[in-house]
Amino acid sequence: MDRKIRKVVFPVAGLGTRFLPATKANPKEMLPVVDKPLIQYGVEEAMEAGMNNIGIVTGRGKRALADHFDVSYELEHQISGSSKEGLLADIRTILDECTFSYTRQSEMKGLGHAILTGETLIGREPFGVILADDLCVGEGDGVLTQMARIYAKYRCSVVAIEEVPPEEVHKYGVIEGSELEDGVYVISKMVEKPKPDDAPSNLAIIGRYILTPDIFDVIRNTPPGRNGEIQITDALQIQAERNMVLAYRFKGRRFDCGSVGGFVEATNYFYERWKEAQE
Ligand code: UTP
Repeated sequence: MDRKIRKVVFPVAGLGTRFLPATKANPKEMLPVVDKPLIQYGVEEAMEAGMNNIGIVTGRGKRALADHFDVSYELEHQISGSSKEGLLADIRTILDECTFSYTRQSEMKGLGHAILTGETLIGREPFGVILADDLCVGEGDGVLTQMARIYAKYRCSVVAIEEVPPEEVHKYGVIEGSELEDGVYVISKMVEKPKPDDAPSNLAIIGRYILTPDIFDVIRNTPPGRNGEIQITDALQIQAERNMVLAYRFKGRRFDCGSVGGFVEATNYFYERWKEAQE
């Protein structure tokens, strides 16, 4: 059977309150890191992994996202033949190679619920999930490409993890597991946003997932958890009790662009890369 994953979901319905007032009328995922909106980095990572069928779970006030991944005739006409034309080359490649589908999460009931809302775009096949506010730079291959390899080998859900300092575990879903091979863990337990004393480890789940489609039925039956939201971590815990769920310590670096500090760090990092590219 074909082991290739072609579809990916971007849940972007969140309000991005940590960036107010910047995110009052502009989606967080459209904030630029140097010269590209956050979401474009995620879409490029998905495209590199061969997941060219892009599903976006949006919410109110997010129309700019759909406009970004579309042709802009007036603009393109204006800069056609000028030195600026090259600035649109990357986004044109994306438009040529990817398809975009949209659905709306009309009530903010949590990340698990947002992923379930994406079911209509996915159907019954394994798929990737990218939280665009986690901006990842893979070492060699992109993070989703690395994860797709783990999926092809074990054919079960895979979550990306990284080690975080103990004082930061309360911001993440945290796993307990046994190491299957270097950097790959079979998950026995997951806790969403634990207090440092309750955390089973300092291995935190970040915003990259590969999920098998049975997750949709699991989410449908997952009651609201922390903050009254339907948590993907709770659904994955149930999936891990029934089947194997793996955690993968990815090779590379992640910037938490959902926070102002992480966003500035990413900006500095990509500004250095941008300067090198100009030379
Ligand atoms: P966050 O917890 O970072 O929330 O959601 P947020 O609204 O984006 O940002 P803050 O905390 O208010 O600043 C994690 C991811 O899950 C998506 C968000 O869009 C983000 O990508 N999400 C969360 C949804 O799509 N729907 C939800 O109901 C909740």
